[in-house]
Amino acid sequence: MFLDERRDYARLMSGNITGPLHGRIAVVTGGARGLGYAMARSLADAGADVALLDLLDGVRDAAEALAADTGRRCVGITVDVTAEASIADAFGSVARDLGIADVLVNSAGITSGTPLIDTQLASWQRVLDVNLTGTFLAGREFARRHVAAARGNPASIVNVSSMSAFAVNIPQTQAAYNTSKAAVSMLTKSAAIEWLPLGIRVNAIAPGYFASDMTRDFVASNPEMAEDWVRRIPAGRMGEPDELGGLLVYLASEASSYVVGQSIVIDGGYTTV
Ligand SMILES: NC(=O)c1ccc[n+]([C@@H]2O[C@H](COP(=O)([O-])OP(=O)(O)OC[C@H]3O[C@@H](n4cnc5c(N)ncnc54)[C@H](O)[C@@H]3O)[C@@H](O)[C@H]2O)c1
Repeated sequence: MFLDERRDYARLMSGNITGPLHGRIAVVTGGARGLGYAMARSLADAGADVALLDLLDGVRDAAEALAADTGRRCVGITVDVTAEASIADAFGSVARDLGIADVLVNSAGITSGTPLIDTQLASWQRVLDVNLTGTFLAGREFARRHVAAARGNPASIVNVSSMSAFAVNIPQTQAAYNTSKAAVSMLTKSAAIEWLPLGIRVNAIAPGYFASDMTRDFVASNPEMAEDWVRRIPAGRMGEPDELGGLLVYLASEASSYVVGQSIVIDGGYTTV
């Protein structure tokens, strides 16, 4: 029952069975699985057609499953968000298959678990390349296409930061990841101010511990650490991926028309105490 209530939130907000994102076209990087897929589903439930962009070959199957489940037009496109040409090709495919995107969710991300003193340069750079540079490249391509289309419609970018942008969540060691997410939140503010006059609002969501494909394997092989996390979360549990949907649809839609440059933490109270 609660799950249905969360999935129906978009419709409840609008009082409109077509959903607040009806007629919009959304791109979700890192959309083949995990939080990206769950957020793509929330956007589709709210009426958007969705392009999933991901490094994984399974992205096409994921898009087919999403389309079958939600009745929206969905496409899956292989991309490496760290490569300019790959991003340009992927957005070209989106434009051909669905149209010019009005919503971008930057969810592609990787983590690192090495003590800082042992961290190799290549590993440090890879985390920053995917999490930060990938967010920049996809945002810039989205913005250029929005400006070139000159349709005058509102556009929204939602970056996926992390509570790790604001708190060093111990006991794991992940300095590169924490640093990359703090930078994503600053990029969010900077892009928000530069692109607001272009009709693009930029915000971020900053999740705490969520049960995703990324964390599930980690939790299975580190059960004591996972218990430690849960002990520190006032809500007493990790978040479920669909619990991001209400905030995401709010930020993607014009319901949040005066929210600019924010990174909104959604963490069951972890960073509140
Ligand atoms: N799960 C959590 O608890 C949590 C908490 C805070 C923030 N986040 C952030 O949420 C986002 C999604 O994380 P998740 O937990 O769903 O992880 P995940 O590993 O399940 O999904 C990440 C997706 O990004 C894709 N990806 C990785 N590198 C890519 C690249 N170079 N180009 C294109 N796609 C690429 C992967 O293939 C994968 O499908 C990440 O940015 C992560 O940092 C997750």
